[in-house]
Amino acid sequence: MAITVSSLPLIIGHRGACGHAPENTLASFRAAADLGVAWVEFDVKLSGDGELIILHDDTLDRTTTGRGPVTQHTLAEIRRLDAGLFFDAEFRGEKVPTLDDTLAVLQDLNLGAVVEIKPCPGREAETGDRTARHLAAHWPGSLPAPLLCSFKPGALAAAGAAVPALERALLLEVMAEDWRHLAEQVGVRAIHCGHGHLTESLAGEVQAAGYDLRCYTVNDGARAKVLLDWGVQGIITDYPERMP
Ligand code: G3P
Ligand code: CA
Repeated sequence: MAITVSSLPLIIGHRGACGHAPENTLASFRAAADLGVAWVEFDVKLSGDGELIILHDDTLDRTTTGRGPVTQHTLAEIRRLDAGLFFDAEFRGEKVPTLDDTLAVLQDLNLGAVVEIKPCPGREAETGDRTARHLAAHWPGSLPAPLLCSFKPGALAAAGAAVPALERALLLEVMAEDWRHLAEQVGVRAIHCGHGHLTESLAGEVQAAGYDLRCYTVNDGARAKVLLDWGVQGIITDYPERMP
């Protein structure tokens, strides 16, 4: 896979467009496209039997009709669960998608993606490695190259070692004092941070150091405008239609 650095849009749909449809489902990616976004974010992890699936939590309970840790369930078991009912009866029948299901829908909808590596505990390196290799082998050629991100330095390092050409971003809930050291350690070019603790001076510091800066999860249009005025290059939101 020849990967070039993508230019990301300012507005990125969070877990698809999870204000409008069950997060991390194909319905959510379709909702994002219907709202006119060009890119979505979603979370990748491994099922108990090592298949790449799209799910946020380490357990099945919150967003599916299943129970217990993801690592104790095979893909076949997870595929039998409903991943739409927790959001609304209208979405009954939605499944936990595989990464392959998702790539097919992204291609169909012409959606770019920020792919978050969301490993279950202890599977950081394996999840980073597998996700990067899978994207390198199967990413649709018609789409802009994806951006990988993770809160887990071990997952980012493994992804970078597996496919150095894939762009990666470090996720930080709060901009730690040693953010730059962490970013250098894993070799990322971008920081994605929780917007709540970001200040104008911190935003300036990140960008002066040559890193792209994006924020999550911003659902208020006025706050998004402030962040964009500070030079933030991307906003990840559950409600793309609220953004300036
Ligand atoms: O990628 C940004 C954001 O999705 C990180 O937080 O918990 O929603 O995955 P979370
Ligand atoms: Ca995420």
